Amino acid sequence: MINVGVIGTGYIGPVHIEALNRISGVKVKAVTDVNPELARKTAENYNVEHVYNDYTEILRDPSIDVIHNCTPNRLHYSITKEAIKYEKHVLSEKPLAMTLSEAEELAELAEKKGIVTGIDFCYRYYPVVQEMAVRVRRGDAGKVRMVSGTYFQDWLFFPTDYTWRLEKSESGESNIAADLGSHWFDLIQFVTGLKVVEVMADFATLIPVRKKPTRQVIAFEEAKEAETVDVKIEIEEYAAVLFRLSNGAPGSFTTCQACAGRKSDTEFQIYGDQCSFAWNHSKSTELWIGHREKPNETLIESPTALDSSTAAYATLPGGHPLGYHDAVLNLFKDFYQVLKNGKEPATNIARPTFSAGYEEMKILNALVESHKTRRWVQVKNL
Ligand SMILES: NC(=O)c1ccc[n+]([C@@H]2O[C@H](COP(=O)([O-])OP(=O)(O)OC[C@H]3O[C@@H](n4cnc5c(N)ncnc54)[C@H](O)[C@@H]3O)[C@@H](O)[C@H]2O)c1
Repeated sequence: MINVGVIGTGYIGPVHIEALNRISGVKVKAVTDVNPELARKTAENYNVEHVYNDYTEILRDPSIDVIHNCTPNRLHYSITKEAIKYEKHVLSEKPLAMTLSEAEELAELAEKKGIVTGIDFCYRYYPVVQEMAVRVRRGDAGKVRMVSGTYFQDWLFFPTDYTWRLEKSESGESNIAADLGSHWFDLIQFVTGLKVVEVMADFATLIPVRKKPTRQVIAFEEAKEAETVDVKIEIEEYAAVLFRLSNGAPGSFTTCQACAGRKSDTEFQIYGDQCSFAWNHSKSTELWIGHREKPNETLIESPTALDSSTAAYATLPGGHPLGYHDAVLNLFKDFYQVLKNGKEPATNIARPTFSAGYEEMKILNALVESHKTRRWVQVKNL
């Protein structure tokens, strides 16, 4: 049995536990949260044996093999670094850290220590997104000419909506480019196999003063009834980015968390010189393939319609749609396969490790610099 400790039981921690409970040979042995009541309730809901008072107790427990870091961004670096010192394998939430130098250090340290790493870029693991990656990378779209997309949400629409993500000290130099941009840029690099090499970013804070609840609010929780204090917001909940890919292709991306009616609406479109591919989270089982001279196609998620290397991710017969929990499960299954078999899964494309987390932090670093300096910035190592 592989024993797991989950650190942070707000919104995403229980999503991790839900998936972990569906993987054979894996057991969530302990949870912890700085809010003990949340940790206790989570343990009760998911039959977890131990609630520890502090994450260091999880790290010191020699029976725990893996930790899942589900805390706010501020704690990704320190908790993950300490976990690596204790030789725990780590699955981290995104972004990997708050700064590029922290991310670099974590990726290097994990590699040096032979730690198995993973980062929860879960949108990659919708079966038709995996399929799109196989097809685009093998050349079905031809040369990628242009990429575009969006990621819109509305959970920060009202001035009374609040999250730690809006605070520099908790989130880093960016809110939405780090939060949603990290997923989106990971998706397009994953699907095309190309790198984002240059960016031009424009960030905006749409609601400059918000009402911060005086009690803890977990992600996506409505806090209209809570006592509040007015706070000035320093980081963005809107970002627009122009970028160039490593083959010279241009792209554009817009994201915002104050778009009434948009819940977790992300989509991306790859336009090649042979055909086009597009995916939209609101129709997550459909892969759209666009043609100039014949009818367009819609490939519906189904193990019999997918490439042999991606079919295993579509775990139900066609017509029985998978969802967000299943995408997370697919990612975790690949991670735990490495721990069980000592080698990477035999899919065509690498799973997201700390190296993917580092790649994304390079883009984020360039986005922040571009916004501050109002110019194009190269995506580069430190
Ligand atoms: N992959 C995804 O799709 C996805 C979705 C949501 C969130 N996330 C990421 O997950 C992380 C957490 O986000 P969330 O939405 O769950 O936030 P959240 O605020 O709902 O939950 C975070 C939890 O961490 C706890 N915490 C804070 N300090 C702690 C400490 N020292 N020890 C233990 N627990 C501590 C908080 O009490 C809270 O319960 C973020 O980095 C976010 O970017 C990823």
